[in-house]
Amino acid sequence: MKPTDTPKTYRVKSFGCQMNVYDGERMGELLEAKGITLAPEGEEADLVVLNTCHIREKATEKVYSDVGRIVKAGRKAGKDPMIAIAGCVAQAEGEEIMKRAPAVGMVVGPQAYHRLGDMVTKAAAGERSTDTDMPEDAKFAALPARRKVAPSAFLTVQEGCDKFCTYCVVPYTRGAEISRPFSALVDEAKRLVEAGAKEITLLGQNVNAWSGSDYAGHAVGLEGLIGELAKVPELQRLRYTTSHPADMHEGLIAAHGEVDKLMPYLHLPVQSGSDRVLKAMNRSHTAESYLKLLDRFRAARPDIALSGDFIVGFPGETDAEFEETLQIVDAVGYAQAYSFKYSPRPGTPAASMDGQIAMEVMDERLQRLQAHLNRDQQAFNEASLGKTCDVLIERKGRKPGQWLGKSPWLQSVFFENELAIGDMVRAELVQAGPSSLQGRLLESVSA
Ligand code: SAH
Ligand code: SF4
Ligand code: F3S
Repeated sequence: MKPTDTPKTYRVKSFGCQMNVYDGERMGELLEAKGITLAPEGEEADLVVLNTCHIREKATEKVYSDVGRIVKAGRKAGKDPMIAIAGCVAQAEGEEIMKRAPAVGMVVGPQAYHRLGDMVTKAAAGERSTDTDMPEDAKFAALPARRKVAPSAFLTVQEGCDKFCTYCVVPYTRGAEISRPFSALVDEAKRLVEAGAKEITLLGQNVNAWSGSDYAGHAVGLEGLIGELAKVPELQRLRYTTSHPADMHEGLIAAHGEVDKLMPYLHLPVQSGSDRVLKAMNRSHTAESYLKLLDRFRAARPDIALSGDFIVGFPGETDAEFEETLQIVDAVGYAQAYSFKYSPRPGTPAASMDGQIAMEVMDERLQRLQAHLNRDQQAFNEASLGKTCDVLIERKGRKPGQWLGKSPWLQSVFFENELAIGDMVRAELVQAGPSSLQGRLLESVSA
């Protein structure tokens, strides 16, 4: 087919954070509402949406090479696929991509993708278009209703970031912080549950900055929304991510001790254990204030699993400052963590700071940090042995007859029993590996 034909099939490839995964699902729904169906597995699609992430290096180069690959694969299959670039690279580099990649027909930013359908119509008429506007909250109201979803579903409640950490592109690609309205979120959560969700993870770049007014008109924080969602009978589990230490408040901490459906898991990135580095990052917390915050969570919910993000090799980071990061890791004992080498991002203050760190030094620091983090994850898993908990089955495992789900502490738990996606099973955790556990089935809780 020519790119000017109306596409019949689509594929959305999402990279980066869970908010991109959510956006990708919604773009799929939007295209389906237009009569375009998901391309069957192994078949080239007529329309490919690359939903991109700009957080670390080589993001833009990756877009160009992916576009080249899509064009080539499409030609081999006898088509000339329509290509849309969405997500954070689209927002940051959209104009340049339009100039350099003639195969790209559409560039659409994270706040504008509700208009993707019209852009496809235009592209089918041979007109290329770019939309990187940031209209406030117009997007969600304009999207079609939720369709069938996985047992563990995402729900974006807050978008954007006002924190301006000096290394980070998100405030530029996602815009200012906004909270979606309470009633719209409760409605969407109910639709998700009707569509098959048993667990909902509330998403935001700074999800704990969410605020709104409840049905009585009272101002509420995220715990108010969580409390309301916990009343939805068929919804069994709630989670939220990602939080920022600066927006953490007592109500949300207390909710961990009060709301049974709120899972005992907290992702709270610290980035570094050095106060000097944290200040240079514009993180607005210290190592000590962060540790005190975690103590309050542990007081509210003693078994809470902690998770974090780390950056090694921020400009000017000395060996001694890196050691402080290892110290905070040792002090916390994370159940899970994500760690990255600092990557200079165009237009961010840190990119032009003195003292950029050599790649070999970053490699070595990352390896050492990950050794500590892996040790702690293994220790957390081992400490879970003998515990009885519910596991929500999400997918088949790699081996035949194996099924995989998540524990309340977000550990992957596998079973050798015949199960089904969406089963909530009661299990004992009987064997611990570095990144998963084996479960022994006790009884089927619900099908
Ligand atoms: N809003 C969240 C997540 C932001 S992006 C937060 O503030 O915690 C996810 C993670 O990517 C960050 O926590 C940080 O660890 C990492 N990251 C962001 N920018 C980076 C950069 N320029 N180089 C390396 N890692 C980066
Ligand atoms: Fe980026 Fe910092 Fe905002 Fe997180 S809080 S998205 S790291 S600027
Ligand atoms: Fe990446 Fe944008 Fe998310 S840069 S991490 S996709 S907010």
